[in-house]
This record gives sequence, structure tokens and C-alpha cells, in this order.
Amino acid sequence: MPAPTTAELSVERRASLRALNSFGLPAVAATLVRVRSEAELRRVIDHPEFGRAPKLILGGGSNLVLTRDVTAVVLKVEIMGRQLLRETGDAWIIEAGAGENWHALVEWTLAMGWPGLENLALIPGTVGAAPVQNIGAYGVELAERFDSLDGIDLVTGRTVTLDARACAFGYRDSVFKQLLAGKTLITRVRLRLPRPWRPVLGYLELQRRMHETGNHAPDARTVFDWVCAIRRAKLPDPALIGNAGSFFKNPVVSAEQCRDIIGRDPSVVHYPLPDGSAKLAAGWLIDACGWKGKSVGRAGVYERQALVLVNRGGAIGAEVLTLARAIQESVYGRFGIRLEPEPVII
Ligand code: EPU
Repeated sequence: MPAPTTAELSVERRASLRALNSFGLPAVAATLVRVRSEAELRRVIDHPEFGRAPKLILGGGSNLVLTRDVTAVVLKVEIMGRQLLRETGDAWIIEAGAGENWHALVEWTLAMGWPGLENLALIPGTVGAAPVQNIGAYGVELAERFDSLDGIDLVTGRTVTLDARACAFGYRDSVFKQLLAGKTLITRVRLRLPRPWRPVLGYLELQRRMHETGNHAPDARTVFDWVCAIRRAKLPDPALIGNAGSFFKNPVVSAEQCRDIIGRDPSVVHYPLPDGSAKLAAGWLIDACGWKGKSVGRAGVYERQALVLVNRGGAIGAEVLTLARAIQESVYGRFGIRLEPEPVII
């Protein structure tokens, strides 16, 4: 078989990544390859130049901080397609290509009469990125709506199918951020939407909406509208203000540490966990240190949600990291807690 040529693939040299990351940070990829199918990915793996080269997998670029130019071959995942795979008595199983836009998938499933993803509305990024960081919002995590996924091993080109257990989902975490990081490219994701549909309304702000509207039995479309309104009110639209969503994870502390912090700051927002430990609201901790609305260079802390760092215009990755470190230092200084960044930092 003749060696595949570059001409068969969509390859860009010295490609600007600025429009391909939601923070709008400048960086150049020496080589960017658009992957539109499994077959195309196999051609990359078999390719004399790209096959052995280190790779960076890029979805919507919405959970990424670029601090330098990228020498690894950037694989921009653009595998499309979405379908109802099967319908059983207790679930709808939906399959979508990794390159599909996540929010568009949520809207489509609702329009088709398959509810269950409404709490995850408006999360930026692609379907393929959703399992990587186990996206979650307003009381629902992807792991709870997950069936299985297909991926391709970037060394062998072999297709693997992983169930939830194999994905090792954790809080904003999965095997794709750990053992399989940069090794397996997710090509298709299957979601399991349980029937009959039951709304998830435990989150405080959804409770508030129910109270305000007097609607205590909202349908899925209403929950979707509420979630969109809540997000729009406090999270910046990356199309207008560069950002990567929550910049830090909410830290988990021991019961003792939590008691100690409550002793000093009784208003600290915390959520007790079953094992006695507690999750603290990182946004509250950062806010308490006076960071909301502040800037360091052209990077800033969003005025309406201190957990979100923003690009005030023309920021570079190093400025975002300088700001992030300054925040980490002040939160550590005041509370003795080390905040861990949520996005992938390159
Ligand atoms: N808070 C403050 N000041 C702030 C920000 C927050 O006091 O500046 C307080 C709020 O008043 C609230 C608490 O902190 O009592 C929690 O805030 P919020 O409800 O906004 O949620 P979060 O914990 O900051 C998490 C996720 C979000 C997700 C929301 C809703 C993480 C790291 N972030 O944010 O996910 O949308 O809950 O479920 O877990 C993302 O991962 O990128 C993301 C946006």
C-alpha cells in the first residue's frame, strides 16, 4: 500500500490557535490536522511524519490555557453525526460524534423528545470533551447520563470501547485526564437518558426559580430555560469574553479542616460529603480574598463569579497563570487550602 500523503489530510502548518481556544489566548501550532472521521485518524497514525509525533487532542478548546506555541501535532476533532441508537423501556440511548457541539446536542435531544441533559445546557465545548472532564452542572454530571464511548488508540490505531467504569469518572476527572491522557482519542460518545424522565431540581438556584415562578413541576424545556438563564446571569459568554469556565476545582477538605474554617469564617459555602469531608466553594474563597473584579495585566477575575478568570482583551497565557498563582497564594495564605486548576494547562 502506498504511504499516505499529506494532501489526503486536512493539514495546516503554523496554524493560529487563538480562535480555537475559548480563552482567546495566542499560540501557534506547528502542525494542525483536522480529524473528520475514524478513517482519517488512522491515516494520521499511519503517516510517516505524524504517526510517531507527540499529539495534542483539541475539541472546542474550552477547557484549555495555552501558555506557549505547540510543537506536538494538534488533532482538531471534527467527527460529526448524532442519532438515537435505541430506545428501551427504561432509556433512550443517543450516540454523537466527538466533534459535535455539546449544547447543540442538548437542544436537539430535547427537541426530539428525549429529555435528560437539560441541567447540562450551555456548557461550552464538544461532545468528545464532555467525558474527559466529566462535565457537570446544577446537580447532574455526565457520568450519570453516560452509556459508553469509542476511542482510538493513537499508537496502535485500534478502536476501544469503554464503559463508565473503564472511564473512571471522578469530580471533573476521568481516565482521559490521567492514564489515557494524549493516548486515546474519543471518537463517539453514547449517552443513556433514563425513562421515565425525572427532573433534577435539588440545586439551590433551581429551587429559587421554582419558588419565584410557582412552577413546582417544570417540564424538561423549562428546566433547560432556567439553567440557561442562571448561567447567562453569572458566567461570561466565551464568544464575548474569553474564559475557560471555572478556573479551579472546588476543594475537598477534611471535616476537621472544615470546622476550623467555619470557626473563623462562619459564612463559608460548604457541602458536606458522605464520608465526613466537605467540598468548599472555591468561588467563595476567592471572593473572600477580595479578588472579584480584579485584574493582573490583561487577565482578570470575572465580576459576577470569582471562580472564572477572563481575558480582558489581548491577554497571553502567562498573564492568566500569573493571576492564577496570585489567587492560589492568597487563598492558601488565608485558608491554608491549595486550589487546583480545572483546565488543562499547556
Ligand atoms: N460564590 C461566592 N462568590 C463568587 C462565586 C461563588 O460567594 O464569586 C458562592 C455562591 O454564592 C455559591 C457558591 O459559591 O453559594 C457556589 O457557586 P456556584 O453555584 O456559582 O457554583 P460553583 O461551585 O462556583 C460549580 C461548577 C460549575 C457549575 C456550577 C453549577 C466547579 C469547579 N464548577 O461552580 O462548573 O456550572 O457549579 O453546578 O465545580 C465549570 O466546571 O467550568 C463550571 C462552570
